[in-house]
Amino acid sequence: MKTVVTGGAGRLGRSTLDALARAGHEVICIDRVPAPDFAGRQIDVDLLHPSAFSNFVGDERPDAIVHLAAIAVPFSAPEAVTLETNSRLAFTVLDAAREHGVARVLAASSPTVIGYGSPTGWAPDVLPIDERHRTRPWNAYALSKQLVESMVAMFSRQQTATVFGAFRPCFVISPPEWAGEPTQQGHTVADRLRDPSLAAVSLFNYVDARDAAAFVLAWLERAGPPQSGRVYFVGADDALATEPLATLLPRFLPGVDASALDGSSPAFSSAAAKRELGWAPQHGWRTELDPAALASFGVVTPGSGTS
Ligand SMILES: NC(=O)c1ccc[n+]([C@@H]2O[C@H](COP(=O)([O-])OP(=O)(O)OC[C@H]3O[C@@H](n4cnc5c(N)ncnc54)[C@H](O)[C@@H]3O)[C@@H](O)[C@H]2O)c1
Repeated sequence: MKTVVTGGAGRLGRSTLDALARAGHEVICIDRVPAPDFAGRQIDVDLLHPSAFSNFVGDERPDAIVHLAAIAVPFSAPEAVTLETNSRLAFTVLDAAREHGVARVLAASSPTVIGYGSPTGWAPDVLPIDERHRTRPWNAYALSKQLVESMVAMFSRQQTATVFGAFRPCFVISPPEWAGEPTQQGHTVADRLRDPSLAAVSLFNYVDARDAAAFVLAWLERAGPPQSGRVYFVGADDALATEPLATLLPRFLPGVDASALDGSSPAFSSAAAKRELGWAPQHGWRTELDPAALASFGVVTPGSGTS
């Protein structure tokens, strides 16, 4: 399968390029910056120029497009720029796929569409949160992702030749970040575990970048017409927290009943992705942090010598 990945040089893109190449895809990376350590074809296209991308798709005739390119961090650019950039990029990619009859197109959305973190107050309708939860974006980034999901649904109503999909990866943690590099928000994974207020704003969600990439692969291999227009949460099987969310969440969202989240359960459910696409996360903070860091959180690993 010939698969184009936009934003392939990014945090999630690098793991996606790797996973698809290992699975035997002929992968083409589209980005404005080079993807380090990727041996496949890399093409420098600015997706803000729609005709350049449409011409590229018409020439290359890929079987699939994975659209990751975006301004990926809320408030990292002026709000109007984030809204315009992310929606224009998504429309450019989805419309080119429609125009050239690309068989599958998957676009990255975000759990932020749910609206957590709103300064005017927010509480979940229900826990765990799944795809039926209403969306209430409160900033331009989340709004742009809601638009991406609406575009996916809109294009899925226009034609059946293409399967259109969207996914909401939780807070992405890449292999170097497990090893101690700063995460997207500037602090380390260990910082996030040590100070729950850092992860509380996103309800302690996270996903390993390789697991998110495995979701992309599963969607490309298994999503068919019944899945066209659908969106999936993609998160780890546990929360990025050292104590149960049943007691932790109400400290940050007073009045919220989180008793449905037993043990280390996350606030977001990835059950639909598991059920419909056969995907399951393989990595979590308890398997990826080094034994010394785990010991500082009271997690004992075999052979760590910690009692
Ligand atoms: N990282 C997360 O925690 C997270 C969570 C939820 C959703 N997402 C979404 O997943 C996707 C990937 O996120 P990421 O963390 O890898 O982002 P990233 O910022 O690391 O990578 C995005 C890439 O897109 C490229 N890009 C931006 N504008 C472009 C343009 N005009 N033309 C070509 N390339 C362009 C950038 O150069 C960059 O390499 C984004 O859509 C993001 O919104 C990320």
